[in-house]
Amino acid sequence: MTSPKIIAVDGPAASGKGTLAAKLARHFGFHFLDTGLLYRAVGYQVRDAIGDRDAAIAAARAFDPAWLTQPELRGDEAARLASQISAIPEVRTALLDFQRRFAAQPPGAVLDGRDIGTVICPDAPAKLYVTADVEVRAQRRLKELQGRGVVSIYAAVLQDLIDRDTRDSARSAAPLKVADGAFVLDTSALNADEVFEAALSWITPRI
Ligand code: DC
Repeated sequence: MTSPKIIAVDGPAASGKGTLAAKLARHFGFHFLDTGLLYRAVGYQVRDAIGDRDAAIAAARAFDPAWLTQPELRGDEAARLASQISAIPEVRTALLDFQRRFAAQPPGAVLDGRDIGTVICPDAPAKLYVTADVEVRAQRRLKELQGRGVVSIYAAVLQDLIDRDTRDSARSAAPLKVADGAFVLDTSALNADEVFEAALSWITPRI
């Protein structure tokens, strides 16, 4: 049996990992899962009871992939909710199987998130950790928000990213960190094409 062709893409918010992961999936003809959407969907499901740990766990256990298509999940509210409920270990456990089953689909899969290379698919043959200076990420996020017509202030966007980085890295359950054997790709000074080329040269011989 050949081992599954899995590309794990982790990194902090607004590092460009989502864009890169989607491009890689298209390039290789693989399935693609933005795992942040799972946590966003669960957080959004319990938005009126966000401090209620049991409600979040129950929602994660009842997770339905049909939830992933809600347009509200793309917004900042869902991101903040996700960042909170994703620190609950039982929520993460409830979402584990879905992610592993997704990753095992032939001919291959690209998953992006925070713990793909460390927890979900530690045996993935190609792991990337995509990062960038927080100021660069804030500028990119600001541009993206403005492009969508969302009025935003740089200082607020920057603070939001710093808060999320802190929560995602400091939590005890599957914190954001570089996986063993991952290629660290700092995109601060690279454009999207350069990021893609760098990622491709690392991945191609490994899958
Ligand atoms: O990638 P994103 O911005 O959609 O993620 C939203 C939040 O979900 C993020 O702050 C942390 C959490 N998350 C996680 O804990 N594990 C993942 N694999 C993906 C996202």
